[in-house]
Amino acid sequence: MFITMEGIEGCGKSTQVKLLAAELLRLGHRVTLTREPGGCVISDRIRAILLDADHGAMTPLTELLLYAAARSQHLNDTVHPALAAGDVVLCDRFTDATMAYQGYGRGLDPLLIGELNRLATGGLFPDLTILMDCPVEIGLGRALSRIDAAIGAKEERFERESLLFHQAVRDGYLTLARQEPERFIIVDAHRPVAEISAHIVRIVTAWLTGR
Ligand code: TMP
Repeated sequence: MFITMEGIEGCGKSTQVKLLAAELLRLGHRVTLTREPGGCVISDRIRAILLDADHGAMTPLTELLLYAAARSQHLNDTVHPALAAGDVVLCDRFTDATMAYQGYGRGLDPLLIGELNRLATGGLFPDLTILMDCPVEIGLGRALSRIDAAIGAKEERFERESLLFHQAVRDGYLTLARQEPERFIIVDAHRPVAEISAHIVRIVTAWLTGR
């Protein structure tokens, strides 16, 4: 069971995916919590290259290829072994992020992105994807104030993109969700953390029970 969490910067998905993991563990599930880019030693090093604010000269194609490389290694080292062991795998971002950011955001060819996603994943698709949706001004505001407070200050390359870029990413995510309504659940992320968490836990536990 492979569940992914998506959304724009500052939507609160990392907080929510951790809360969900804790609740599933409490309910007796075996859980692997991971993230992209990253999730294993080699992909964490690729992450540092991708998100470094000093790497403003990185071309969109280099960016896309690095995300694909990080994903391929992450699946090999972390995701496939965890799924084989019977864990519920919760992944903070996955292939939809590439379509939203590099496709809708950067304007790269969606067919090329689809091909690279297939190559990197070997055809593994999430069973369920939770899209945390909130207005760009709110998400980005949160993300930037986090950076100003110097949390993860080096990982700010995307946060420094224009409001227009992030709007395109948000619209992209919503388009992807409309294209696959049976896989996506859209959650209104502009609500109190505990309320959102209870909502997500209800959806995921109902879904796990149904399988
Ligand atoms: P994070 O802040 O959620 O950890 O994600 C890191 C950044 O990487 C975020 O700005 C979104 C971006 N990203 C892409 O552009 N493409 C991808 O395929 C993934 C997984 C993330």
